[in-house]
Amino acid sequence: MANILCIGAGYVGGPTMAVIAKHCPQHRIVVVDINEERIAAWQSEHLPIYEPGLDEIVHSTRNKNLLFSTEINRHIAEADIIFVSVNTPIKSFGQGAGKAADLQFWEKTARQILENSSSPKIVVEKSTLPVRTAEAMEYILNSNANRLHFDVVSNPEFLAEGTAIRDMEEPNRVLIGGRETPSGQRAIQAIVDIYTHWVPKERIFTTNLWSSELSKLAANAFLAQRVSSINAISALCEKTGADISEVAHAIGLDKRIGPHFLRASIGFGGSCFRKDILNLVYLCQYYGLDEVAAYWEQVITMNESQQARFVSSMISSMFNTIAGKRIALYGAAFKANTSDTRESPALAICRALLEERAKIVISDPHALDNARIDLGDAARQVMFESDPYAAAKEAHAIAILTEWVHFTTLNYETIYRSMAKPAFIFDGRNTLDHKKLHAIGFNIYAIGKPPLTHFSAS
Ligand code: NAD
Ligand code: UGA
Repeated sequence: MANILCIGAGYVGGPTMAVIAKHCPQHRIVVVDINEERIAAWQSEHLPIYEPGLDEIVHSTRNKNLLFSTEINRHIAEADIIFVSVNTPIKSFGQGAGKAADLQFWEKTARQILENSSSPKIVVEKSTLPVRTAEAMEYILNSNANRLHFDVVSNPEFLAEGTAIRDMEEPNRVLIGGRETPSGQRAIQAIVDIYTHWVPKERIFTTNLWSSELSKLAANAFLAQRVSSINAISALCEKTGADISEVAHAIGLDKRIGPHFLRASIGFGGSCFRKDILNLVYLCQYYGLDEVAAYWEQVITMNESQQARFVSSMISSMFNTIAGKRIALYGAAFKANTSDTRESPALAICRALLEERAKIVISDPHALDNARIDLGDAARQVMFESDPYAAAKEAHAIAILTEWVHFTTLNYETIYRSMAKPAFIFDGRNTLDHKKLHAIGFNIYAIGKPPLTHFSAS
């Protein structure tokens, strides 16, 4: 039996440890956090995050071999393997502000591990970090007077929110990076041994530390780049009469390109894509690779322009003014099947519409609480309504901002009757049946598609 500890009970720490606990009943897994409220929620019937399949796994493992606690020091002392899954936000001050990773939480954690250890341990980087962070971690941990040895291993997490449990249960790959020393190789093997309980060996890939750290940043940059690429083409579709769904399908049929991540949208959100690309940009600039930095930065510029374009299209279609008009925003989460609203394009669009003095009502099946928090002061100007029918009542427009299936199954005839006329739908996710909605009477504007309106000029 091994004592496994995870520091950081967030979107990564909670679900990953729950899946490890499920498949490794012989190990004792403890998840700790400085946030008492979060730990209390993990111990309760209402888990702090919404993730399909998570409740079942936590219920079947909690208080058996999965524990949640705020007693960080005690559990560090008892642990053999420590996964560190704390947040690594962007630095908001000093050198690298707005781009570099803020590693203060990370370093504090390393020092805390050192202060509370009296036996050798394997420390696993689960958080996404700049390349060569493991080196700094090694220096701090191995600077102790007691000659305790710590091995640092990189095991980046590739799960996506909304499919976290499936991604953990059936990962495309598990990446484990470590030192090429005998002790480093033993540490890698200890982590491999955890995953082989349920992941086929051929999907477990071991590398050196720096390749593992960089692969995580690169994977996120490639994924975000695909979204920006298809969104760039969607802008051209709107000018030329091409249809982005047809174009995406046509190019995705090429096996070298593949069909995934080609859904045009109001842009990517979530806590990681923007942060990780900015981090990559900062690293490139640090190493004097200015053209490489500019290349990746453009992925973010494109994402921001897609959101701005969507808002402009809403304003111009609604006769160049939305001041005082009620607009129902369907979706606050940054993607479907999560309650997470961090960096959600829906909230960016909400803020832009508020600046135009629109009356905003947001409806979302799971993310309203987080939306209220993440909107900050702006939340005071917004109405939150869990019932999408009530949200649309007397509204001039509906904007689909998250691709929840929930919004595709509504009775849009009823909704149409309750709205101000002419009634508009702006489909920022291309999930609705546009022809059907047009037949009901709506004027439809979708991403990368010709508008379907009832105005004679169109
Ligand atoms: P999160 O903010 O949801 O959770 C991090 C947790 O760490 C918080 O609960 C915070 O209170 C806790 N914490 C911070 N400092 C601590 C300390 N010193 N001691 C104990 N607890 C501490 O973040 P997250 O979304 O789980 O992301 C964690 C890391 O994983 C980030 O580096 C992120 O880039 C990476 N990642 C996230 C995802 C995702 O889908 N969210 C996927 C892959 C990788
Ligand atoms: C992403 C990666 O997919 C994970 O592999 C990675 O572990 C994680 O980031 C991370 O490091 O945090 P996540 O952000 O949870 O996962 O969700 P994605 O499915 O990647 O979607 C990201 C954003 O892109 C969402 O806003 C989504 O709506 C948008 N998107 C995605 C599109 O607009 N179009 C697409 O075709 C795909």
